[in-house]
Amino acid sequence: MLRKIEDDVCYIGCSNPTQEEFEGEIPLVDGMSYNSYLTLDEKTCLQDTVDLSVVDEFIANLKEALNGRNLDCIVVHHLEPDHTSAMLKVLELYPSAKVYISAMGYTMFQNFFQTTIKNVVIVKEGDVLSLGKHQLTFFAAQMVHWPEVIMTYDSYNKTLYSADAFGAFYQTDELSIKNLDFNKYLDESRRYYTNIIGKYGPQVLIALAKALKFEIKKICSLHGPILDDEKSINQILDKYKLWASFTQEKKGVLICYCSIYGNTKKAADSLFMTLQNKGVDVSIINLNHIDTSYALSQSFIYKDIVILCPTFNNDIYPKMEMYLSFLKARMIKNKRFTIIENGSWVPAAGKIIGKILSGIPGNEISPLTLTIKSSLKPGDYTVLNQIAEDLAIKER
Ligand code: FEO
Repeated sequence: MLRKIEDDVCYIGCSNPTQEEFEGEIPLVDGMSYNSYLTLDEKTCLQDTVDLSVVDEFIANLKEALNGRNLDCIVVHHLEPDHTSAMLKVLELYPSAKVYISAMGYTMFQNFFQTTIKNVVIVKEGDVLSLGKHQLTFFAAQMVHWPEVIMTYDSYNKTLYSADAFGAFYQTDELSIKNLDFNKYLDESRRYYTNIIGKYGPQVLIALAKALKFEIKKICSLHGPILDDEKSINQILDKYKLWASFTQEKKGVLICYCSIYGNTKKAADSLFMTLQNKGVDVSIINLNHIDTSYALSQSFIYKDIVILCPTFNNDIYPKMEMYLSFLKARMIKNKRFTIIENGSWVPAAGKIIGKILSGIPGNEISPLTLTIKSSLKPGDYTVLNQIAEDLAIKER
């Protein structure tokens, strides 16, 4: 089905509603969209292609949207295969198309596809491609999410083609954010950003500064809905500035825990209730049951994170180890961690967690801590209350 998003711009991307994981590890709730756009000006111009899983539908969309016209230009914003798997097929069908790509993108293209492009145009910062009415300005957006990424601003319709930026784990038949639940998009956009791009905040801020020199009326990302209203654009830009600078979104506390026999869970639940009773915004994640991608996403919201973990084989519980490795891989910053450990003979989790967290620069570890010996005793509740009061003073 041909989906026009403007008189002369069509959405020709596709969704994979049954896809269960992204990049082989991140669970998807509703599948995933792979966005692509076609501008029909004096010249026709394709903005990116799609994932291998939806190539046939995409090629049909492209042919329908072109309606017999030739394809003149292809812009490659990002070489990752979820956006380039249809490139060879497109070039086979439209061999005279000129491909606009960054120098590093073209090197990667040759490495991935082991061929060259006949009509390649290497784009540099600030280069402009005129399609007729539509004037496309290219600029680099290194590490959002790979080093070769470029973004494009179309000055005619004031549209930013943002590559992966502002994308989300999201697919729906509805394209416009105006007709969708912004908060659902925001949650999946945060999970996307923190898991896919999270480490590269400084580079994201550089790309944002470049993009914000333009008047932006519409953002066309490679995943998720089209952002086509001022309020949504401003909201997501504000969130990106917070995430990229590792600034807390709001006051409150995240409790992240693992439990083996339910005793560490009891401590986490008790702390949760006490904080709630003190009027603190508190979120709780049981890593035994909730995927690490959600825990990472929540970790970008709050400054205070309480970690509760049992000792396991004289080490830490594996799912906690994974969560901490996610924090470390993103070089998360500006957090204040409180550590609560459990152990039945030689509690070791607290020391190990402290060592891992000390290896992530730019964070604090609270001197307040608690060691539970197997199950909670009355004195443990007293310490939990002290921890809750300390957090409440900071985060109420
Ligand atoms: Fe959607 Fe980094 O690829």
